[in-house]
Amino acid sequence: MKRILIVYGTAHGHTLKIANKIAELIRVSGWSADVVCADTIRSITFEDYAGVVAGASVQASGYPKYFRKFIKANAEALSMMPGAFFSVCLGILQTSNEKVQKEERKIVTDFFNETSWHPDSWTVFAGALPYSKYGWFTRQVMWLISKRAGENTDTSRDYEYTDWNSVADFTSDFLKAVNNVYLRSPSRHDLSSGNILTMKSEIPLKDV
Ligand SMILES: Cc1cc2nc3c(=O)[nH]c(=O)nc-3n(C[C@H](O)[C@H](O)[C@H](O)COP(=O)(O)O)c2cc1C
Repeated sequence: MKRILIVYGTAHGHTLKIANKIAELIRVSGWSADVVCADTIRSITFEDYAGVVAGASVQASGYPKYFRKFIKANAEALSMMPGAFFSVCLGILQTSNEKVQKEERKIVTDFFNETSWHPDSWTVFAGALPYSKYGWFTRQVMWLISKRAGENTDTSRDYEYTDWNSVADFTSDFLKAVNNVYLRSPSRHDLSSGNILTMKSEIPLKDV
């Protein structure tokens, strides 16, 4: 049975938390899911996967280098299966600042252009501000950025802004796309041969 690949890039762990939530929702739906950090993958068998969800956090207006490298190196294989991308950042919280909103979207589209991976869907989630996990310098920088943005500046506690209902909706849309390809569509991509294989529509979820 094919599985779902969830690959992530993170600096302080919040993107992993979102990835794990997505995996939990995917497993509840009947699929198996592997959650892997792009930095730790040494080899991967793409034929084992029916779809991919990739996500990374924005650090200084871009995603971690190892994450971009992994996606770029495997863009062709990733493009053969239903894919969804989520970006994690704090700028998206500035809902009335159109300039920042545009910048956050541009980070995503620049990433797609750089890597040549163009997933079927993407979204931006508000992340977290875990002051307790930062070193002294990062804490000062994040405090200053938060102050300027009118966000939380009490460095004695951590903040989490992710809308978990949005995470559930994003996952549900992704699963619909995967199920469409693997359960309802008469054909599917076969990565091992590069051919389109005919698939019986009555094949149950677990046997895909
Ligand atoms: C050093 C640093 C740089 C950051 N740069 C940006 C940025 O350029 N734009 C933004 O919207 N958020 C930025 N953030 C916020 C992170 O994207 C946010 O905290 C996210 O939840 C981090 O997720 P992670 O724990 O998976 O790395 C930055 C955070 C840190 C600590």
